[in-house]
Amino acid sequence: MKLVVTGGAGFIGSNFIRYVLAKHPPYSILNLDKLTYSGNLHTLRDVGADARHTFVRGDICDRRKVQEVFSTGVEAVVHFAAESHVDRSIMDSAAFVKTNVLGTQCLLDVARQAGIKRFVLVSTDEVYGSAPAGEKFTEESPLAPNSPYAASKAGADLLARAYFRTYRFPVIITRCTNNYGPYQYPEKFIPLIITRALEGQDIPVYGDGLQVRDWIYVMDHCTALGAILHNGREGQVYNLGAGNEWPNVEIARRILQLLGKPESLLTFVQDRPGHDRRYALNSEKAEKELGWVPSTPFEEGLKKTVDWYLSNGDWLQRVAARGYRSYYRKQYGRREATLAEILDQGGKK
Ligand code: NAD
Ligand code: DAU
Repeated sequence: MKLVVTGGAGFIGSNFIRYVLAKHPPYSILNLDKLTYSGNLHTLRDVGADARHTFVRGDICDRRKVQEVFSTGVEAVVHFAAESHVDRSIMDSAAFVKTNVLGTQCLLDVARQAGIKRFVLVSTDEVYGSAPAGEKFTEESPLAPNSPYAASKAGADLLARAYFRTYRFPVIITRCTNNYGPYQYPEKFIPLIITRALEGQDIPVYGDGLQVRDWIYVMDHCTALGAILHNGREGQVYNLGAGNEWPNVEIARRILQLLGKPESLLTFVQDRPGHDRRYALNSEKAEKELGWVPSTPFEEGLKKTVDWYLSNGDWLQRVAARGYRSYYRKQYGRREATLAEILDQGGKK
């Protein structure tokens, strides 16, 4: 199969590329990525030399570029490319609407014209908004996004749905919970805790820290996407959760324990505006139709993730430091200390 992956230089997209190349040796992948602050070729260093992977730098909003990519006998698309961080969308939502809504519309249009046989849109559980205590969202739950990021993803999600209903364009939509694992940009909570704890920096916990997220190891998300790409039903939505709900402050405590760092690093800061209290999904549909269940226990996934960041200080330096530091300064108005020495010493400082 000849596959286009958009956003393949980012966190989940790059892990998906690794997964596909390992699992499906005859497949080839065209990776279309703009290389924004969160995408980086260092994230693809291990697949760079694989002849089955071709990197194309380009914007999904650039119709001509997208046409060029889709004119090469592509059969299927897995669309990850997005502005993905809620806090950034609160500071400025323009890029979110542009990439997430208009970029998706451009891809859908060109893919339809090119006769693409399958288009998997990687949406998010955030489109449902906050889950009331004791309830889990099903694929039929109404969409009620609360952040500009979530609203822009809901826009893309609904456009994809409309392309199926209007044109019978073979779209499948996935809505996954919070991913964690290797290669995640350290603005996101888990790698942020790891990298800041290594530096002995305070760890900002929003509000009371009792917001709940359902954490899924990134490879479990990738296996679900693989199953959906091959066996999902056109026009359908699939929720993908891990049933692994933890309050934020508990996640932070566990990571500090794994790193042997003190809890005194936890610093409760002003809450995120519009902060969703809880995310929780019912994923029985994916389990029943596709036989998919996540297989990585949280303790194991978290340990693997922490170990990965400890042994990949070079990646962190190259990929994350500059963008992350200036972002953090904007967010908190403070100067950042260095990551370099601590990570170079394998986190032992
Ligand atoms: P990420 O920020 O790590 O990666 C996004 C990638 O998209 C980057 O490589 C970036 O360069 C690229 N990109 C951004 N704008 C682009 C554009 N205009 N044209 C081409 N490429 C562009 O994000 P991620 O965490 O890997 O998320 C990937 C997808 O999964 C997103 O659609 C996100 O909404 C969705 N998702 C993420 C999670 C999560 O927990 N991280 C959970 C559910 C769904
Ligand atoms: O649920 C899926 C979504 O998960 C994806 O669609 C998004 O792309 C992804 O970024 C993620 O969104 P969240 O907002 O849940 O993730 P984030 O890592 O930003 O925050 C996780 C929780 O931790 C959230 O309740 C906010 C809190 N938090 C986050 C940061 C960055 C803090 O308390 N302190 C922080 O510094």
